[in-house]
Amino acid sequence: MKVFLVAGARPNFMKIAPIYREAKERSAIECKIVHTGQHYDYEMSQAFFDDFGLPRPHFFLNAGSGTHAEQTARIMTSFEVILRSEKPDLVMVVGDVNSTLACSIVAKKEWIEVAHVEAGLRSGDMKMPEEVNRIVTDSITDYFFVTEKSGAENLMREGKDKKRIFFVGNVMIDNLLFQLKKIEGNPSNTFKTQALKDQFKEYCFLTLHRPSNVDSAEKLSEIMSALEVISTRYPIFFPVHPRTKKMLTKFDLKLPKGIITLEPLGFSEALNLWKDAKIVLTDSGGLQEETTALGVPCITIRENTERPITVEIGTNILAGTKYDGIIAAFEQHLTKGKPGRVPEKWDGKAAKRILDVLEEAG
Ligand code: UD1
Repeated sequence: MKVFLVAGARPNFMKIAPIYREAKERSAIECKIVHTGQHYDYEMSQAFFDDFGLPRPHFFLNAGSGTHAEQTARIMTSFEVILRSEKPDLVMVVGDVNSTLACSIVAKKEWIEVAHVEAGLRSGDMKMPEEVNRIVTDSITDYFFVTEKSGAENLMREGKDKKRIFFVGNVMIDNLLFQLKKIEGNPSNTFKTQALKDQFKEYCFLTLHRPSNVDSAEKLSEIMSALEVISTRYPIFFPVHPRTKKMLTKFDLKLPKGIITLEPLGFSEALNLWKDAKIVLTDSGGLQEETTALGVPCITIRENTERPITVEIGTNILAGTKYDGIIAAFEQHLTKGKPGRVPEKWDGKAAKRILDVLEEAG
């Protein structure tokens, strides 16, 4: 079976790594990596391929940035060319970025089956581009690989065939556990950020890049005002996403001095920092899951989450994006805490389960 494994943006690379590694172990599956080029800066792309030991992508589409339509269209037209010449049996897409949507549509129209890893997650917020991407992708998916039970429930509510839904666990956590083992054998002085960690000892770790949080001066300022208060208690390490960097410049917003900005970090550099953070503050999807898997307190700066298990049983508190909610979540973690459990099947074996399903199908 010839499988195209599609990745385009930073959160995709950690999801394809365990699948690619597992596929290499199996003679029945020939797996080729397609990189759409949605993310292209070294720190947003190649750094992850290096960190994860992924080979050079077999196909690179060079889509780059642009409006949603421009970016999606560029990915679609280039992907169509290689699909027509290479004719894979299956296109596997991961997550919810524009590359996920673009490549699944092209595959389906070429009569090639589509597998979606991380299917069924729903935030209910149609203003999030990712929610549109998830719903459209799942509307044409043949194999739904689900990370948490809410995913399967959402798909069944939408009338998807139960036989096509596979609760396999979370490849993001496969990658996390694999990388954690690797860095545990790595003396800490090999990390660029170790000096910061040694200097401050107790700190928070922040990521922030959602358009709904950073593309409006008013919203970004309100979030920053809460972070300013938090940063007087603990310094906040903040690797700044390119979108956020652009917006801070555009709005001429100065960050509080307790926020220590960093360039975007490679996976293991970031992991080395956040795994020992007092609290992680984030609007990313992946970090909500990863902090739950390692039992690190997390505050999600969003109004909703498509990953409810992290709040229901994990260490994640959904704080909203207002000053009061963020401060209340911070106080809750410091005073009562929020002990968490690791969700079912977040055990490092999701990629294996995915490939077992595909091998059986055939
Ligand atoms: C995309 C995903 C989002 C994911 C995020 C992780 C969509 C709709 N969004 O959002 O789900 O959480 O990636 O990072 O697919 N830029 C660079 N260098 C790069 C890439 C982007 O400078 O390598 C800049 C560009 O100016 C671009 C902006 O960042 O305009 C945003 O990039 P884009 O890929 O459009 O969306 P993200 O916000 O990164």
